[in-house]
Amino acid sequence: MQQGALYIGLMSGTSMDGIDAVLARIHDRQVQVQAHACADFDPALRAELLALNSAGGTDELHRAALAANSLARSCGALVRRLLAQEGLAAEHITAIGAHGQTVRHQPGMHDGTGYTLQLNNPALLAEETGIDVVADFRSRDVAAGGQGAPLVPAFHAALFSRPHEAVAVLNLGGIANLSLLPPGEDHGTPVRGFDCGPANALLDHWAQRHLGQAYDAQGAWAAGGKVDTELLALCLQEPYFALPLPKSTGRDLFHAQWLDARLAQLQVAPGPQDVQATLAELTARSCAEALLRHAPQSQALLVCGGGARNADLMDRLRRLLPATPPEPTDAHGLPAQQVEATAFAWLAHLCLSRVAGNLPAVTGARGLRVLGALHPR
Ligand SMILES: Nc1ncnc2c1ncn2[C@@H]1O[C@H](COP(=O)(O)OP(=O)(O)O)[C@@H](O)[C@H]1O
Ligand SMILES: [Mg+2]
Repeated sequence: MQQGALYIGLMSGTSMDGIDAVLARIHDRQVQVQAHACADFDPALRAELLALNSAGGTDELHRAALAANSLARSCGALVRRLLAQEGLAAEHITAIGAHGQTVRHQPGMHDGTGYTLQLNNPALLAEETGIDVVADFRSRDVAAGGQGAPLVPAFHAALFSRPHEAVAVLNLGGIANLSLLPPGEDHGTPVRGFDCGPANALLDHWAQRHLGQAYDAQGAWAAGGKVDTELLALCLQEPYFALPLPKSTGRDLFHAQWLDARLAQLQVAPGPQDVQATLAELTARSCAEALLRHAPQSQALLVCGGGARNADLMDRLRRLLPATPPEPTDAHGLPAQQVEATAFAWLAHLCLSRVAGNLPAVTGARGLRVLGALHPR
């Protein structure tokens, strides 16, 4: 495919591990990824972004603005690296889709208090790169009464749906989200999607606290622990898991204090490694139960996001879902780590084409909406 235009998608999700960038050629609704680059957040920026996720501290407005500047500069440097790597210049790129960093997410309120907030400075990114930037993808859907999330199911459908089979796509980022794709030939059934609950956010937090590592590589530490059934049961009582669709969540709910509150209810504290095993089982159980509840007819389960590299988590999913063993998306058209960033390149293309990017059946919005705001180069 040589037709079409080049876009760059930038994603930094709720894991807050860093930024993924893809260069993608997009023609009509077809997408071909040509290159990928990523950059870990510097530890100070990561700590500040994490701190800004919850209320407290002083001068949050000032600090949020500085963090947004810092994020935009990191994104700018990553874009320049990607262009240099590919021998391209700014004028070759039609637009960047820049998600920004979610720090608050409370959509779906009908009393005027709903909003979703992604720290970003798209004006600075346009200045830094000389490329059109599309940003703030979620606000319009929230303004239309939707969750503003997840936004990836439409892209998952474009990429992974099959003519005769129902496919589920599970993204294991900081938060887990599922896209439920009916067979492509079934034009009557809408694509659905929602956030299942925590994926890596709590696992990373616990690995950081007890191993001093950003994450539990391959889930090896969790694999050597024993699931604490009492803690698991307490965690699974979280009302979010039983909420009807549409729904979305974030670190606003699944944060360190959420875990601490449940640990405090136990008579006997489990060892740290057993807590990690329990958190891994919680992720696997909440995702598997969501799939069995909402799309038991699924014939395949494709997995993307960093969690696809967590062998222990994948094993747990395999045990819970023997009929649809989890398969990383790598063998199905797009490496697991590139899917989300590519979705935002695609959403930028839809924005410039003035085509709606949301799926009201997923987000609960009143209707189709063009997503994103353009910051011209
Ligand atoms: N080799 C690995 N083993 C275990 N977990 C991993 C590995 N690589 C990445 N991860 C997990 O994936 C996360 C990043 O996934 P990502 O898809 O970027 O999430 P997000 O979209 O929330 O940023 C890391 O924080 C880590 O928890
Ligand atoms: Mg990430």
